[in-house]
Amino acid sequence: MSDECRVCLLGLIFLSSLLTGSSGVNDAHVFISSGENVRLPCNNALHDCNSTTWLYNRFRDSATVELICLGIKKKDTERHERLSLGSDCSLNIRNISTEDYGSYICQQWIGVNRDQQEGPDARVFLHVLHVSSSQTEISAGLSVTLFCQLYSYTGGSCDDWIRSERIQLFWVNQAGVKLTRSDSRYQISSSSDHCIITLNTTLLNEDDNREWRCEVSLTHDCGFE
Ligand SMILES: *[C@@H]1O[C@H](CO)[C@@H](O)[C@H](O)[C@H]1NC(C)=O
Ligand SMILES: *[C@@H]1O[C@H](CO)[C@@H](O)[C@H](O)[C@H]1NC(C)=O
Ligand SMILES: *[C@@H]1O[C@H](CO)[C@@H](O)[C@H](O)[C@H]1NC(C)=O
Repeated sequence: MSDECRVCLLGLIFLSSLLTGSSGVNDAHVFISSGENVRLPCNNALHDCNSTTWLYNRFRDSATVELICLGIKKKDTERHERLSLGSDCSLNIRNISTEDYGSYICQQWIGVNRDQQEGPDARVFLHVLHVSSSQTEISAGLSVTLFCQLYSYTGGSCDDWIRSERIQLFWVNQAGVKLTRSDSRYQISSSSDHCIITLNTTLLNEDDNREWRCEVSLTHDCGFE
């Protein structure tokens, strides 16, 4: 009889939400896990999308890439096959990868020559959560380490950003209960910048089909503790 157990290591994200960031009134933040599809809203869209241009920056100082120009998808970007423009001028991206995080800007250009910008930029920050495992072959008795990394446009260090936005990464079990350092089965740690967390555990027979998930949360500050 084989001692093998297959553990479901798909620890995937969970919070995919829109929230207003502190960086600007028109800014939105979207969290998504790698492999999923995402829709980035264009909050300044006009009645048709011919005026819509979508721009992308991975970092604050990286070159700006034009993804959609006046409603037409640019064919020369490495990601063009995964992109599409929604009927409401939102930007749809299929099969998100860890390279897709960053700042996306939606603009409207009007006038005969489309040279007049209408309204302010509408910016969406896309944050990508990616889970990986130290082991591809899984069996009982084996020690396995799961990694969960948040890829974000931070404009600085990940640490400062996570702290200022009160963002937290953590592991939960199948029942959605947060795993803590006090549970001796798990060694939980985080990188010094808090943008990677790891879960280390020795697999048991009863872990067959078990699932651990990495989640991200925003802590609301009510002004007192
Ligand atoms: C927008 O583009 C569509 C298709 O190219 C065209 O039929 C339509 O007239 C355009 N609308 C405007 C306002 O330019
Ligand atoms: C999604 O992208 C990954 C690489 O990032 C690729 O290996 C996989 O085949 C893609 N899946 C689909 C359904 O296109
Ligand atoms: C995981 O924990 C086991 C048991 O404590 C240890 O032997 C192993 O080195 C750890 N692995 C990693 C990658 O931390």
